[in-house]
Amino acid sequence: MAKILIVDDDPDILDLLRLTLSRSGNEVLTAMTGKEAIGVIAESNPDVAFVDIRLRNSSGLDLLNDIIRLYPETTVIIMTGYQDMGTAIKAMQGGAFDYISKPVDTSQLINLIERALEAKKTEITSALQSPWQGTKEIVGKSKVMEEIYKLIGLASQNKTTVFIQGETGTGKELIARAIHQYSPQKGKPFIAVNCSALTETLLESELFGHEKGAFTGATQRHRGKFEMADGGTIFLDEIGDIPQNVQVKLLRVLQEREFERVGGEEMVKVDVRVVTATNRDIPKLVAEGKFREDLYYRLKVITILMPPLRGRREDIPLLVDYFIGKTNAEFHKDVKGVAPDVMNAFLRHHWQGNIRELENVVSRGVLMTRGNVILKEHIPELNPVPDKTATRNNDYAIRPLDDVEKEAIERALQFTNWNKSKACEVLKIPRPRLDRKIKKYNLDRQP
Ligand SMILES: Nc1ncnc2c1ncn2[C@@H]1O[C@H](COP(=O)(O)OP(=O)(O)OP(=O)(O)O)[C@@H](O)[C@H]1O
Ligand SMILES: [Mg+2]
Repeated sequence: MAKILIVDDDPDILDLLRLTLSRSGNEVLTAMTGKEAIGVIAESNPDVAFVDIRLRNSSGLDLLNDIIRLYPETTVIIMTGYQDMGTAIKAMQGGAFDYISKPVDTSQLINLIERALEAKKTEITSALQSPWQGTKEIVGKSKVMEEIYKLIGLASQNKTTVFIQGETGTGKELIARAIHQYSPQKGKPFIAVNCSALTETLLESELFGHEKGAFTGATQRHRGKFEMADGGTIFLDEIGDIPQNVQVKLLRVLQEREFERVGGEEMVKVDVRVVTATNRDIPKLVAEGKFREDLYYRLKVITILMPPLRGRREDIPLLVDYFIGKTNAEFHKDVKGVAPDVMNAFLRHHWQGNIRELENVVSRGVLMTRGNVILKEHIPELNPVPDKTATRNNDYAIRPLDDVEKEAIERALQFTNWNKSKACEVLKIPRPRLDRKIKKYNLDRQP
């Protein structure tokens, strides 16, 4: 049926896979090293190559790169253990068609081959569509990010509940999507719900659906997000904000995998992986009696703590390059990089809004640059706000709290270009509070 190459340094695995795959009618070739593999490909032109990520004396990733560069007609599928997920994710980003974890499941293997052959057929018509398209890149090589890749790997292979905690803009949603994307359920829906954006009643019906006539205006039966996500993943963002009655219902879904629609009696059964995220301190909310402790324990089976950007500064240059490339592509620009003093300032900056802030700063820098290097003058937020209170030269001077607050708000507004909802995001305060403060300090947009 197909010509398949297996590259692994373990002869037992080679024998096992050769047997399984030839039994289902395929021609099977094997190699134990990267060098041997390249020789076989050059000679026999296999349709699909399964490459173990750890080969003796070399890495499967290097072999992946060589195959993609030299023999693009051969589709590569990476074989990996759970502990190598970080590398597996990189393999996907580097152009592997998919990955399969060891011990290898035979039916999954056959299924992958079919998909790979199918994709090859359609590739001719859509040469630019890569199979990993739609997966946003996660950039970062720091130790903390490596740990997070491992957790993504672990979480994606098991259908456990995942709790992601981190400051605003640290990539919580990106990680939630990655968990789904790398899971066996990736073909199924991924449904995101922002729990803080809806009122109590709306949230309940949004999540669990309602029956016709459940409340005024409920003229039809409505399927909730849990039903829509069946088989896949539901991502509950800002979970710290969900009201008590929804907490109870959610707990029940996690325990029993079933619920009733609002105004209904029928039990709806679902098979959904729940991923939640928050930038709030849930243990504190638990202590204050605002968040159910039993629910918290159910949610944090796997906990992923997103580091703030200032906690992984070594990733800043990579991210800057990545966002420059992204903005270049989007706006047909050709910016090459940032000036050294800008990079230095980036490395020292506090990054309260984390990666989102960095992304905004860099893409605006790209748009404002006429030449092909981003200069300090293109990054207004890195230049300190002129300080009229004259206490500036001593950052640690004790100052009236009102002054400090006023300055923080001024800076946030300046940074967000007076986009108040964004300013609330970086300041982590609700909108009415911001409005009150603007009035109190008499702040006005400078022309
Ligand atoms: N490691 C990363 N590599 C590349 N881009 C990233 C990375 N982390 C985050 N981003 C980008 O930064 C932006 C913010 O990420 P995301 O929305 O996932 O953050 P968040 O933690 O959910 O923020 P919030 O708490 O404000 O909802 C997105 O555009 C995302 O694609
Ligand atoms: Mg988010």
